[in-house]
Amino acid sequence: MPLIEWSESLSVKSRLLDADHKRLIDVINKLYDASQKGSNHAGVETAMEQLLSLTKTHFIHEETLMRKSAYPQFIPHKIEHDRLIKQLEDFQKRYAAGQVGLSNESVAFLRTWLCEHITSVDVSLGEWLSKHASLDTT
Ligand SMILES: [Fe+2]
Ligand SMILES: [Fe+2]
Repeated sequence: MPLIEWSESLSVKSRLLDADHKRLIDVINKLYDASQKGSNHAGVETAMEQLLSLTKTHFIHEETLMRKSAYPQFIPHKIEHDRLIKQLEDFQKRYAAGQVGLSNESVAFLRTWLCEHITSVDVSLGEWLSKHASLDTT
């Protein structure tokens, strides 16, 4: 059973952004699997690196769409993205330093980290983009 199952409740009504979110969910599920199986440190670090890289790419997608559509909530949304990247980088560093393990709690943090952002701020962005549908093709 994966940690996060994508469902319509996580949809932001944008094909591009939903596809990105599904990719992020896949990597978090991979980390969850690793935590259940007690996978080696190197494998977990590779998955975390992948999560960080996909997250950065995804945020660039959203920020580009926000700029192109003159999204009024751009600044608070961007601040939230920067905060999430910092949280992920801190988590990654602490894991690499052996200060945190891949406990259920740590993995639950990643679920909250992603899902709360999607259901709070990304949903509003999706609504805005649906009014500017022609922009959602990048
Ligand atoms: Fe976002
Ligand atoms: Fe997002």
